[in-house]
Amino acid sequence: MVMQATQSAAVRISAQGAFGVVVEGFDPTSSAHVVEVRRAVYRERIAVVKGLDLDPHQFVALGRLFGEPKPYYEPIYHHPDVAEVFVSSNLDTGEQHIGVPKTGKFWHSDYQFMPRPFDLTLIHPRLVPSRDRGTFFIDLVREYQALDPALQRALKGTTATHSVHRYFKIRPHDVYRPISEVLDDIATTTPPVNLPTVHAHPHTGEPVAYVSEGFTTGITDADGVERPDLLHELLSATGQLDSTFEHPAIRLQTYDKGDLLIWDNRSLVHRALHSASDEPTVSHRVTVYDDGGRSA
Ligand SMILES: [Fe+2]
Repeated sequence: MVMQATQSAAVRISAQGAFGVVVEGFDPTSSAHVVEVRRAVYRERIAVVKGLDLDPHQFVALGRLFGEPKPYYEPIYHHPDVAEVFVSSNLDTGEQHIGVPKTGKFWHSDYQFMPRPFDLTLIHPRLVPSRDRGTFFIDLVREYQALDPALQRALKGTTATHSVHRYFKIRPHDVYRPISEVLDDIATTTPPVNLPTVHAHPHTGEPVAYVSEGFTTGITDADGVERPDLLHELLSATGQLDSTFEHPAIRLQTYDKGDLLIWDNRSLVHRALHSASDEPTVSHRVTVYDDGGRSA
């Protein structure tokens, strides 16, 4: 895809209910459109861009407009032609499987277990089942504001530890390996990461309670004492322990073919809703580091 500045019609950005925006008339060749959509993502957390049909090369080119795409650290997720495209797929052609099925079915932020989490996640569904497919979201900036002030005070100066341990997927080449070797691999490649439990969002300055049920393994207070009570209280207050998905913080974002979802990966934790049916489902993802500075 050639990205050249052109005169484009105005992009239309409108609220979609209480959460996020819908974007129509987006022209990737318009730098003005990219600026507007990026700003909307950090302000409203998620944008659903309509009417796009991007092959993997075009998708990663579009991702470059919003930041620096980074290939996932585990190659089994890579698209065979474009490593920066992460493939979630339940397609089994009987030949070599492309991508990984049933990804992300737990609350998390992408790369939360790495020293630097991604700024933006872009998802482009390619094969969409007829029902029960989408992504649940929780806004951790909003939920931090809504916390009991006593819990907010208790979180001050604490550190959260994040690890991939709990949801690491066994890879094809792990079969017949001793589990201790696999665990050693995980410890070497992705050691636990410590971050302030509440920190200022790099693009908006808002405080975000950056924890997830999937990747956060503990909270430690300023004196180095582990506080499982605080982690449980925080996960519970933000809706991440609600198996009914009826907590008011939880929102379901559905999508259609031709949509491109772009979300703020630090403000939002997300969790995939996978269709119970066997219908083919394929989704492409590009994740980027956005060093563009404050946008809101
Ligand atoms: Fe994810």
